[in-house]
Amino acid sequence: MNISKVLISDSLDQAAVDILLKRNIQVDVKTKLTPQELIEIIKDYDALIVRSATRVTKEVIEAGKKLKVIGRAGVGVDNIDVKTATQNRVLVINAPDGNTTAAAELTCIMILSLARPVVAACSKLKTGVWDKESFKGTEVQGKTLAIVGLGRIGRKVATCMKAFGMRVIGYDPFVTPDDAQKFGVEFMDLEQIWPQADYITLHVPLIESTRGLVNSVTLNKCKKGVKIINCCRGGTVDEKALLEALNSGQAGGAGLDVFEEEPCKFNELLEHPKVVCTPHLGASTKEAQIKVAEEISLQFLTLMDSDSLNVP
Ligand code: NAD
Ligand code: MLT
Repeated sequence: MNISKVLISDSLDQAAVDILLKRNIQVDVKTKLTPQELIEIIKDYDALIVRSATRVTKEVIEAGKKLKVIGRAGVGVDNIDVKTATQNRVLVINAPDGNTTAAAELTCIMILSLARPVVAACSKLKTGVWDKESFKGTEVQGKTLAIVGLGRIGRKVATCMKAFGMRVIGYDPFVTPDDAQKFGVEFMDLEQIWPQADYITLHVPLIESTRGLVNSVTLNKCKKGVKIINCCRGGTVDEKALLEALNSGQAGGAGLDVFEEEPCKFNELLEHPKVVCTPHLGASTKEAQIKVAEEISLQFLTLMDSDSLNVP
């Protein structure tokens, strides 16, 4: 595949640029483009690299007359219209491994922050109030953690939280009970999971079968006080239903890194005292950003060297 000019439209580690430049590829980094600006300039490029901010719509793809490949420096390709890309013979590739550890570690931080109100206690102490009474937590040891989606991140979360003495149960339609057992997860159906879990963490793609997976019906099947963690994709949790459950006490807390709309404007949810939230920081570590930048640009080189992918 011939790639001579690449546009990077989201902030990405310099490692990606360096790797591409070494192969004499022209690289332009232009972030924070409006949709219209992207549509206007995309016609000049053979390839586009994005993270999650750029929406690679039908219009963008159709305007990219020379476009051969779209690279996603991360896992989820839900910001890319893959169907239109395929129809236009534009290859969509991702970098699925580089941010696994970062996303799993943030998930564990969310679980622990819901058990021990470190964030709220710290905020209060910074205002000068030494309050030892309001912030009694709970231990995670002996509690049941349910992991829905036992892929790369789900498995890593299982391993980490087993070390804290949690009982880990889980579900994934493409994983067998025997495989789940290998990384310490008791496999069961969702219907068995809801009433048993003290914490439920989702690690699934946003697809039809996972949209609104945590909703008013499933929340009501859970133990009173269940804690919900979403570090995968907004839309897998029905935010209005979650807020109602938090207000009624059916949910005892939520750790949210991703939202139905980003940036999230649902202030009632963000400001809720039982919510710990971050602005889509799952992959935001120095290490993960270097790894995904390298992973995606090295794939570009593989494509360039590949005879079998003879895209004109
Ligand atoms: P993965 O593909 O390795 O794992 C996803 C798993 O979900 C797969 O095992 C799949 O079989 C399973 N699955 C699919 N449909 C399911 C369903 N209906 N019920 C239960 N399981 C189902 O992906 P991953 O690398 O583990 O990433 C998981 C998610 O986390 C993705 O959505 C990704 O975009 C997101 N992510 C978010 C951040 C962040 O910054 N917050 C960082 C990295 C990844
Ligand atoms: C991903 O799917 O990899 C994440 O959303 C990470 C990101 O790009 O920030």
